[in-house]
Amino acid sequence: MGRKLARLLTEKELDKELLTELFDLASTLEHTRDNRLAGKVLCSYTDEESTRTMTSTQMAMLRLGGQYIHLPSAGSSEGKDETFEDTAVTLATIGADVLALRRRDEESIFAAAARIAQLCPTPIINCGGGGMYHPTQAASDLYTIKRVRGTIDGLKIAFVGGLNNSRTVNSLAYLLTQWPGVEMYLVAPDHLQLKASLRLYLNDHRIVFRETTSLESVLAIADVFYQSRIQWNHDANPEVARLQKPPYVFNHENVSRMKEKAFILHPWPRNQELAREVDLMPQQQYIKLMHYATLMRMAILSNMLA
Ligand code: NCD
Repeated sequence: MGRKLARLLTEKELDKELLTELFDLASTLEHTRDNRLAGKVLCSYTDEESTRTMTSTQMAMLRLGGQYIHLPSAGSSEGKDETFEDTAVTLATIGADVLALRRRDEESIFAAAARIAQLCPTPIINCGGGGMYHPTQAASDLYTIKRVRGTIDGLKIAFVGGLNNSRTVNSLAYLLTQWPGVEMYLVAPDHLQLKASLRLYLNDHRIVFRETTSLESVLAIADVFYQSRIQWNHDANPEVARLQKPPYVFNHENVSRMKEKAFILHPWPRNQELAREVDLMPQQQYIKLMHYATLMRMAILSNMLA
């Protein structure tokens, strides 16, 4: 293994060379149960719901012989107005070897990281920060594409649905700029379209991308469809945003019209945009993605701590 990750706050810390090493490592870990992280403890904390990211990060730790402590926000001193920064400093100081943090806003994890770097240096993994950052999910999405398709080169990927505040879409689109020949289709109504700053970044990096409101127009073109629910919880007005109907729904009928070997990824949770009948179709890879995500998180933890 070449470069060691000192922390993972944004996907910008992952270059193609390191990702390729992590893919290889993740694959070797598929049937591994060893003790390379024996004696290491991960502490996790989030003020936002998490089903997959936290459990798969904790599972990754256990699979490699490490342990974890999860501090539930409901029982923490957050209820006594303790700041997130102070909570994170505490977890680092009591002896965590690595912190897994998720936060509703984008900035807090960076502020906590800056403070921890001064007081009690400890690696931090950003397990989801606001509507912008989700580096371990993006690495897992890429690993899934590599495993299922064999290569990321020349990928035609359609991002579909609530793109504007989707941190998984943001982080994945950013990472994909490092592979040659990738083309993107940004399928969303204007108000849910990918952030302008990221579209500018794609343009500056000569990524071929097309914005469209028509899923129909790309159905027989894309190799991978990456769907995101409407990110109403990151909206300035969540209760109103929550009432929106999904602009596109994948179901048996339209999935059957994708080109051969095309497949769908979705980071879950799913709302109404992905019909349950698709779960039983060969085009779905979003369930296998959860398995590959545990392998990728094992690879990341092994890189950082072993
Ligand atoms: C996502 C997240 O929390 O950003 N899920 C995940 O971590 N696997 C996606 C979402 O909330 O829609």
